Amino acid sequence: MIEHRDVPGLYGASSAAPGVSAPRVTPESLRERKRAGVPIVMVTAYDVVGGQAARAAGVDVVLVGDSAANVVFGYESTRDIRPDELLALTAAVRRGLRTPLLVGDLPFGSYEISDAQAIATAQRFVKEAGCDAIKLEGGGVNAERARAIVRAGIPVMGHVGLTPQTATALGGWRAQGRTADRALELAKDALDLQEAGCFSVVFEAIPSEVAAVISAKMHVPVIGIGAGPAVDGQVLVFHDLLGIREGHGARFVKRYADLLDDMVDGVAAYAADVRSRAYPGPEHAYSVDGEELSAFRAAVEDLAG
Ligand code: KIV
Repeated sequence: MIEHRDVPGLYGASSAAPGVSAPRVTPESLRERKRAGVPIVMVTAYDVVGGQAARAAGVDVVLVGDSAANVVFGYESTRDIRPDELLALTAAVRRGLRTPLLVGDLPFGSYEISDAQAIATAQRFVKEAGCDAIKLEGGGVNAERARAIVRAGIPVMGHVGLTPQTATALGGWRAQGRTADRALELAKDALDLQEAGCFSVVFEAIPSEVAAVISAKMHVPVIGIGAGPAVDGQVLVFHDLLGIREGHGARFVKRYADLLDDMVDGVAAYAADVRSRAYPGPEHAYSVDGEELSAFRAAVEDLAG
C-alpha cells in the first residue's frame, strides 16, 4: 500500500503534524498558490494505483483525462471514449485519492449540445465518481456550457489551445496560436472561460511567448502542457511521464521513468522462469501436515478416477 508522504507545498513540508494528512487541495488553495507564485503540479491518473501514486507524491491536482481513450482503452481518438467508461476509471482513481483535487474530463459529445446536457453529465461525474471538479475543452459556446455548470455549483476547469476532441478541425495535432490572429482567438477563449467562472484553465501546445502573454492577463491559475514555463503549473499524462507507452510522444513530454521497459522485462523473466520450471520455488508453495497428507493419500485411493 502506498503511504501518504507530506511534501513541500504552499504551506511547507511541516504544515501537517506527523500522521496527520495534509489539507485537501481546493480551487481556492490553487488560487493561493498562484498568488504566492508556487507552481501547481497536475498529473493524469486512470486507476486506484495511479491515484495512490499521485497522492503519495504530493501532487496537487489529478485529472482523469479522456486521454484514457488512448492510453487505457487503445482507441484511436479521445472522441471514442464513452461517459460510462470514463466514470468507471474516475471512481477507481477517487478510491486512491484524498488530498489532491480530483478533476473529471467530460467526454466528447457529453456536454456540447445544451446547458442541460452539460450540467447532467457534470453531475454524473460528481455523484457517480466523486469528482471535485470537471474539465471541458474549448471556448466559444463551450464557455457558456462552463458557465451553466459553474452556476449549478460544480467547479470547472477550461482547456484551450490544442484541444484533442476537436484536433481535426484545428488542422491536426499541432501547436496552436502561431499566428497573431489565432493567438488572439486563444486569448479570447481563455478570457471567456475565466469570465464564465472557470477556476483554472489548461493551455495545451501553445508557443511559450504567446502563453506568457495570455497567462499574464489571467487571474485564475493557468496549467500548461506544452505551453512553456510562464504559467502557474504543469500537467503531463501519467503514461507519458512514466514511459508506459511506446514512442516518444509530443515534443513537450519529458520522461521520468521507463516503466514499459521494466514491465516487458518483468513479464519476460516470469515467462522464462515458468518455462524452465524455476518458478514456483519452495518459498512460493504451501505445506501440509505429514499425517494429514498420508490420510489424504490413503483416502484418495478409494475415489474413482
Ligand atoms: O485528457 C487529458 O489527459 C488532458 C490533459 C492532457 C490536459 O486533457
